[in-house]
Amino acid sequence: MPIIEGKRKRCLSLTLTSDIYLKNFLAKGPAMKSMNLVMCSIIGYVGVKDVAQILLDGLERLEYRGYDSAGITGLKDGTFTSVKQLGRVKNLSNAIKPSMNFGNLGIGHTRWATHGKVSVKNAHPHVSFHGLFSIVHNGVIENYESIKQYLAKQGYKFYSETDTEVLVNLIEYHFRKEPDSENRFLVSVQKALLHVRGTYGIAVLCKNNPEEMVIARKSSPLIIGIGKNEMFVASDACAFVAYTKNVVYLNDGELAHITCSDFSITTMKNETIDAVKCELDWKVEDVSRGEHEHFMLKEICEQPISIENAMRGRFSDDLSTAKFGGLQLLPRELRQIDRILFCACGTAWHACLVAEYLIEKYARIPVEVAYSSEFRYGNVPLDKNTLVFIVSQSGETLDSLAALQESKRKGYRTLAITNAIGSTIARESEGGIYQHSGPEIGVASTKAFTAQLCIVAMLALLFGRLHNMGFDEGSEFVQSLLELPKKISQILDKKDEIQRIAKKYANCKDMLFLGRQSMFPIALEGALKLKEISYIHAEGYPAAEMKHGPIALISEQCPCVFLATQKDIWQKNISNIQEVKARNAKIVVVASEGHQISPDHIDDLMEIPDTHDALKPILATIPLQLFAYYIAKARGCDIDKPRNLAKSVTVE
Ligand code: F6R
Repeated sequence: MPIIEGKRKRCLSLTLTSDIYLKNFLAKGPAMKSMNLVMCSIIGYVGVKDVAQILLDGLERLEYRGYDSAGITGLKDGTFTSVKQLGRVKNLSNAIKPSMNFGNLGIGHTRWATHGKVSVKNAHPHVSFHGLFSIVHNGVIENYESIKQYLAKQGYKFYSETDTEVLVNLIEYHFRKEPDSENRFLVSVQKALLHVRGTYGIAVLCKNNPEEMVIARKSSPLIIGIGKNEMFVASDACAFVAYTKNVVYLNDGELAHITCSDFSITTMKNETIDAVKCELDWKVEDVSRGEHEHFMLKEICEQPISIENAMRGRFSDDLSTAKFGGLQLLPRELRQIDRILFCACGTAWHACLVAEYLIEKYARIPVEVAYSSEFRYGNVPLDKNTLVFIVSQSGETLDSLAALQESKRKGYRTLAITNAIGSTIARESEGGIYQHSGPEIGVASTKAFTAQLCIVAMLALLFGRLHNMGFDEGSEFVQSLLELPKKISQILDKKDEIQRIAKKYANCKDMLFLGRQSMFPIALEGALKLKEISYIHAEGYPAAEMKHGPIALISEQCPCVFLATQKDIWQKNISNIQEVKARNAKIVVVASEGHQISPDHIDDLMEIPDTHDALKPILATIPLQLFAYYIAKARGCDIDKPRNLAKSVTVE
């Protein structure tokens, strides 16, 4: 992405050789592959403040990710002080006694059990057998069983069932073999990681180095926060944004050695990396719930602002087209593009489907949409003038990152649409567009999705104006975009009415969402939002597809939500509504003001202001988000931490 400069690598003279005995042993051993979602969080601090307070504060800010236990460790005067508890961070704070002194260097973690049950023993941080190291770890060590067997033969004992305890002991094993030197701590971590297969974000403390921390990442995000005489590390910058906005994102395969006043980054191959610093454009308020009961509701309500931010500075002076400097393509180069491929997962994939409708309609450029996970292992034939967009709110989704790498490997120009400045996808893409939605903390994506819709509508405008869209049509498009924030506010003003409607449907078991053309992806998104946070089974279909199968489900017990916002296909939608009504299903309709739907045909109506056809997906999404939110609330669901879900999915 444009703000990210390239990195220079310098070689150190130090050479790492892996332990040949361990290497031979591991070559024979099995690798356990885990497919769990990574929901754990890491925070670390080195500085002058009371570390316990900073770690607890950071863990609280990361609570939205979901976890089953939490722990912190501080290192002071050569002694580790640790507290671990099951359940909430609050339990952890309550367990800390005033007499405990954690010092000014420490690590903290919230764990979502993967290897080993939920127990205090399995909670992080873990300490090594000889007591020299403490570690927190996100991810999965696939070959931990073989390493464990090897270490057991060397006399190591294990107290937990975790892969993480194996890793900290492997570090200690290398440390004890390593001659004393300035780099002994870092080198031991490097050597241990050479033997590891799997994914990790780790923060490690060493008793012999009481003012230092070593961190490393592979497929699990880690960010360094640079303060004044203090440094932070976290798996998500939300954890420390109250203290600093100056950050460095660690890349895969990199380690950092950190003290309170300095840090250095190296690769596993001993190359020194020049860190690329960037500044987060977040405010502290962005990472707290404020007056709202849930982050999800807060983020739904922020959409007038997030949409404005997605558009800011991105129109031509004559307000007839869009411009995106980050694409780093001249109009001449943009005109040569004759196919566009969008890759994404989940909600972001829905935004890509809308892109397909809009770009094909307004710019007449063929668009394909692929799930990132399918693209990375498939072999989609693409033209040499194909432009590839990877869309990812978090910028860390492993499947989308792999799709990006595969697309680049094949030589396509690969750009990103992401909300996370400096994220892995942002760094590895050849350019792109930042969403500027602010941090999205609720697990169910809301404001990030509508920002993606806004950006893809602007891409349709940009490509349309390069091809066959005239000045007047372009100006009308821009005008409609500029009116969006006000119109979103009008929908939000009616949230009590949507809550009243939602309560009527809170007890149903199934629901269908139906829409035509660009409303079909919104039907998918409405269904996804509902199932994610309320656990009601819901599906989205193109409205006309209903009669090819799903109509069999329709009954009084299966309400249907119709997205009937388009004037040109009014009658078609009305016919589908009647087909469903004839089978006694309850009908909720999202329609634009000025619609001609008779109240006799429907049970509930959620009206949205009229707008340009290309922008109706944005407005129609808002009532569906509120509908899902209020249904989940009426069912007493844990809205910001839906079961089994993680905000960023950094495993396959
Ligand atoms: C659903 C949701 C997920 C994400 C998906 C991709 O509400 O948030 O479906 O959209 O996991 O995440 P990103 O956009 O971070 O790549």
